[in-house]
Amino acid sequence: MSRGTPQIWVIHGPNLNLLGRREPAIYGRVTLARIDEKLAALGEELGLRVTSFQSNHEGALIDRLQIAMEEADGVILNGGALTHTSMALGDTLRAMTIPVVEVHLSNLYAREPERQTSLTAPAAAGVVMGFGPIGYELALRALRERLRAVPKRRERP
Ligand code: DQA
Repeated sequence: MSRGTPQIWVIHGPNLNLLGRREPAIYGRVTLARIDEKLAALGEELGLRVTSFQSNHEGALIDRLQIAMEEADGVILNGGALTHTSMALGDTLRAMTIPVVEVHLSNLYAREPERQTSLTAPAAAGVVMGFGPIGYELALRALRERLRAVPKRRERP
């Protein structure tokens, strides 16, 4: 773990900015702002500094992940639909030297076959899916335990 308060970066992919009004039967009514706010508060409770970021652009997500390697201790990633399509995002995860927990609001295995493949999950420390917004909180708790057990190092976790 780097010195001082551990830094957790939360990275949300395409269309997650629409949470709350996007397909509420699947994704619920909670907004992304609310999810981020609750995560930051939980982070404070757990002794972690949580910083959130959302982009609809693959390259911006990749840039953010690369910077996270230098500046953060762990990442929570919901890549949205890029999870299923982006080999580039998968490559970035394989290059990561800090743990990444993948989160999905919905249970991908209960959905269309195209959503049942994740190109990023094989390189993640773990995956939480199907629990709605609570999944981010579970991921944060899991990351905290992971960082306690395995302090930040330079090679792949
Ligand atoms: C999602 C699942 C993806 O298949 C979808 O494209 C999303 C959200 C989820 O959180 O359940 O945008 O990642």
